[in-house]
Amino acid sequence: MSSVNHHFPDPVIRRKFRQRLLRWYARHQRDLPWRKTSDPYKILVSEVMLQQTQVDRVIPKYKEFLRKYPTLQELAGASVGDVEATWRPLGYNIRPVRLHAIAQEAVGRHRGKIPDSLEELQAFKGIGRYTAGAVMSFAFRKDAPILDTNVKRVLQRVFLGSTNGNGSKPLKRLWDLSAALIPKGKAYDFNQALMDFGALICTARKPNCPNCPMQPFCLSYPWDKDNTPCPKLQRPSK
Ligand code: ADE
Repeated sequence: MSSVNHHFPDPVIRRKFRQRLLRWYARHQRDLPWRKTSDPYKILVSEVMLQQTQVDRVIPKYKEFLRKYPTLQELAGASVGDVEATWRPLGYNIRPVRLHAIAQEAVGRHRGKIPDSLEELQAFKGIGRYTAGAVMSFAFRKDAPILDTNVKRVLQRVFLGSTNGNGSKPLKRLWDLSAALIPKGKAYDFNQALMDFGALICTARKPNCPNCPMQPFCLSYPWDKDNTPCPKLQRPSK
């Protein structure tokens, strides 16, 4: 197992967080098209689109893109200009170019398949640690952690409050935490749940603390009237 270190939240709280998150997700999960496929190519397309674009804008473009290029092979065989045109008006137009290059490389070097290891995925330009973790957990059902802006915010608030990890590499700490929280064999649901929780409850500007199942142990609860966190300095142990 990777580095689970001593200043981790206690196992009881970690277990509660997992259970509460999965229970919340069972009732409130969003119906999103990339959750209805297990095709790694389609999941990769969705994750690259979602890197910089809101879910609502991604949904129609995801469908259009996959109607046009239903397989990795068809994407690889298209011209890059055509792929860029299809991508529009989603911004950050290096993404379709990279996605097209990934498709060509996968066809040329990986027998037409999206590789199923973090290392190989991250070797592609345009696939960082987050996207690699998303593809591993959503397409290959491996217990790989994810950490994007939303997940960072959730974990920071619930487990770290206003502390910054005793000054030690806060980002590494959050990655380790994201990994340590995954219930064995359930990264798919757990990671999707983290996304929805960050989008629907633990939002950036106006978190819905009154309806949050993490309230009893969240280190940033309650937020005050000005919508700033009043972290508890200590949690009662229970
Ligand atoms: N943002 C990035 N990946 C996502 C996913 N799989 N579901 C919802 N939002 C996301």
